[in-house]
Amino acid sequence: MDRDPHLNQSRKTNAALMARRRAAMPRGSGQVHEVFVDHALNAEVWDVEGRRYIDFAGGIAVLNTGHRNPQIVAAVKAQLDRVTHTCFQVLAYEPLVELAERLNALAPGDMPKKSFFLTTGAEAVENAIKIARAYTKRSGVIAFSGGFHGRTMMTLSLTGKVAPYKAGFGPFPAEVFHARYPSALHGVSVADSLASIEHIFKNDIEPERVAAIIVEPVQGEGGFYVAPPEFLLALRALCDKHGILLIDDEIQSGSGRTGTWLAIEHYGVVPDLITMAKSLAGGFPISAVVGRAEVMDAPNPGGLGGTYAGNPLAAVAALEVIKVFEKDGLLARARFLGERLQTGMRAMACKHRAVGEVRGLGAMVAMELIENGDPHAPATELTKRLVSEAARRGLILLSCGSYANIIRVLVPLTASDAIVDEGMSILEASLDAVAAA
Ligand SMILES: Cc1ncc(COP(=O)(O)O)c(C=O)c1O
Repeated sequence: MDRDPHLNQSRKTNAALMARRRAAMPRGSGQVHEVFVDHALNAEVWDVEGRRYIDFAGGIAVLNTGHRNPQIVAAVKAQLDRVTHTCFQVLAYEPLVELAERLNALAPGDMPKKSFFLTTGAEAVENAIKIARAYTKRSGVIAFSGGFHGRTMMTLSLTGKVAPYKAGFGPFPAEVFHARYPSALHGVSVADSLASIEHIFKNDIEPERVAAIIVEPVQGEGGFYVAPPEFLLALRALCDKHGILLIDDEIQSGSGRTGTWLAIEHYGVVPDLITMAKSLAGGFPISAVVGRAEVMDAPNPGGLGGTYAGNPLAAVAALEVIKVFEKDGLLARARFLGERLQTGMRAMACKHRAVGEVRGLGAMVAMELIENGDPHAPATELTKRLVSEAARRGLILLSCGSYANIIRVLVPLTASDAIVDEGMSILEASLDAVAAA
């Protein structure tokens, strides 16, 4: 790993800061890498000891436009000199209205749309469920195994993974049911998945009491499983048949990651409600619920809100993210990078039997590591060693999946080809090293 000669942090070490962190902060808030960041730019990060890393994690899908994108930083600096907080429900500001107009226009479907803003992804999902219940006057919600929707109580109820998210925190809000998410690798067909919804209708709740089905077009934390087109089309048809709303959780797959502004655009499916967060504002905290105007208007005045919801700094950052995408052609870049990443990973799969599958949509790319060529034998330990070895060599990686055996890539779309290739070389060398050990 290179060291930054300009860094004036010689007395701080990652180990000393980890000790302070452990003493002052609870262990429940995990940390993938024992690294403390000093500064970052685009797809590179420097720690307090001056080590340089290539960032393939992007703050968990937040940095599609890169660390400290100069255009976004300039817009936020200008807003800092104007106003930083009023609470939109008390005194409004134009950038948030403009953001709503932009997101309404970007979301699929010709019908009138409205957008409402919050701070975190989980809050967006919470509010999408509130809006769906207010509109349909129904209570039930169907989510999917392996899906991740957040860490608040309602979103934990929706999240389809017990350890570490749900364990010890129940009981969760009722009337949430989990269907199976399709995965050819794991032998779950679209028909199996749809049959699991019919089982819910038969065994748990009648469709007339279901307010919404919430789905990720590409499961994020769940393992970058890409929904087959016929699955999302069938969900839309099922929702139409029973008067159920389709909520499209684009918190990880949205904001241009997959080569379209929203992943659902690949499918030609028009959802009733969409949740967005993460890369929406390039590192500033804001989330959105975008949806059919009549649905969005169902809650009464005062029913929706939040003190920091739609903060003006984050609002101007989000407007700038959209401009950066247009100016820099980042949707095309996502498609280009996706192919480059998949090609690199497929080359690794030819060398290593442990790479069971390479998959992705646009630049949302992952490889699943398995033992002895058996997709039902997750190589969890190998993946853990790979993540550590890559960090030792200067590449920040993230795993995902129910068994933490999937390497996902969320490198900024603004990263140069040279940086992406350097990162892929480190990934390959790290895999060679841990597979040989
Ligand atoms: C698909 C999806 N929904 C919701 C969330 C929750 O977002 P947040 O962590 O901002 O609350 C996440 C976070 O990873 C996510 O990937």
